Amino acid sequence: MRIAMIGSGYVGLVSGACFAQFGHDVMCVDKDADKIARLRKGEMPIYEPGLDKLVTDNMRAGRLDFSTNLADAVGNADAVFIAVGTPTRRGDGHADLSYVYAAAAEIAEAIRGYTVVVTKSTVPVGTGREVARIIREARPATDFDVASNPEFLREGAAIEDFMKPDRVVIGVESQRARDVMAAIYRPLNLIQTPMVFTNIETAEVTKYAGNAFLATKITFINEIADLCEKVGADVHDVARGIGLDGRIGRKFLHPGPGFGGSCFPKDTLALAYTAREADAPQTIVEQVIEVNNARKKRMAKKVIDFCGGSVAGLRICVLGVTFKANTDDMRDAPSLDIVPALMAAGAEIVAFDPEGMKEAARMLPGVTFARTAYEAASDADVLVVITEWHEFRGLDPRRLKEAMRQPRIVDLRNIFNPDEMRGLGFAYEGIGRPQPRT
Ligand code: UDX
Repeated sequence: MRIAMIGSGYVGLVSGACFAQFGHDVMCVDKDADKIARLRKGEMPIYEPGLDKLVTDNMRAGRLDFSTNLADAVGNADAVFIAVGTPTRRGDGHADLSYVYAAAAEIAEAIRGYTVVVTKSTVPVGTGREVARIIREARPATDFDVASNPEFLREGAAIEDFMKPDRVVIGVESQRARDVMAAIYRPLNLIQTPMVFTNIETAEVTKYAGNAFLATKITFINEIADLCEKVGADVHDVARGIGLDGRIGRKFLHPGPGFGGSCFPKDTLALAYTAREADAPQTIVEQVIEVNNARKKRMAKKVIDFCGGSVAGLRICVLGVTFKANTDDMRDAPSLDIVPALMAAGAEIVAFDPEGMKEAARMLPGVTFARTAYEAASDADVLVVITEWHEFRGLDPRRLKEAMRQPRIVDLRNIFNPDEMRGLGFAYEGIGRPQPRT
């Protein structure tokens, strides 16, 4: 199959490279000429494990290329995937679909021969139908179908998620479009990936429902963690105790400083907005948004309380600023709430993150960035873990203690063992874990 991928951001780039790995001919398009030039040289615009090799391998094999020329890519394609951004619209929380509709208008002009136009970006219900209308209005005689194929990949595990998905959801309304989509995903038949074929609206709702459910699950365990802290229970044992019930499942029950990233905050908001408009308010999701926002803000207070009510004049070592590990993405990261609040309370912040510091330097003015975790910990009065980078788990606590002015840790991801840290002389507080009895 010949595929045009419109938009070479996270979803577009990973999907394009993975489709090429499936054996298809893929042209990834983006308006950003600089990005395209760098991609053609094998330079990745994002940090995603394994992506650089996948891209260069497939370029070398002649199955993957990059271009700013949308018309050529679309004109030659059997399927065109729209993977442009759908940020939150300023003011009202609705997804901003202007990039999607602009892409649809350009695609309309460029289609030659039967083409399936697929929305891969996360788009509110009704968008697929609007894309079809835009194309039909511009080119009434064009032979095309619209499909919805939401992407469920996680940053940091994107390639694995794409190549070995739990399922593929495809909304189509003609046998012809279904055949094209089935051909594109045929390599996944080998690993017996379930394919959910449905209508376009259902596929669109499925994506939002999935993300909203996961965001709810995280928010639920975060509130249970708060309860555990108050009553001397351990949230990890609670998560295991409930997660072993197959109806609940063990994943996404890890407590933390609140969810962030490019999807959950934006998609929960967009779903709440769409649902209100459709007169079917999603009050649980609305509550999740509120609880999560409040939680991110409250985390700075947790650190301040731990320090005895004030951090004025203290030097705080922050480990991890990205919204989660294995990404350089800072979008809606809890650090963006926590760090400025600590600075406003008079603390000096020295931070370290394995991949996110370049972006963070822009978004967190006034923070000093260190070259290593130990350097960040040097002379610190308290160490705060915000992101669960694997390498932090392997830090030598003794070395940290030696480097710090005061051996105190607030571990917002529970990466350390509380007994071990306390045994080594640290004052230690995690999330949802019992304090030692006094
Ligand atoms: C998410 C969805 O998982 C993915 O299916 C969708 O396509 C895009 O959105 P992503 O944003 O990359 O992916 O990250 P994810 O691993 O889901 O984590 C989202 C947020 O939840 C992060 O801030 C993470 O730290 C937090 N999280 C996740 C928890 O706090 N606890 C958990 O148990 C899991």
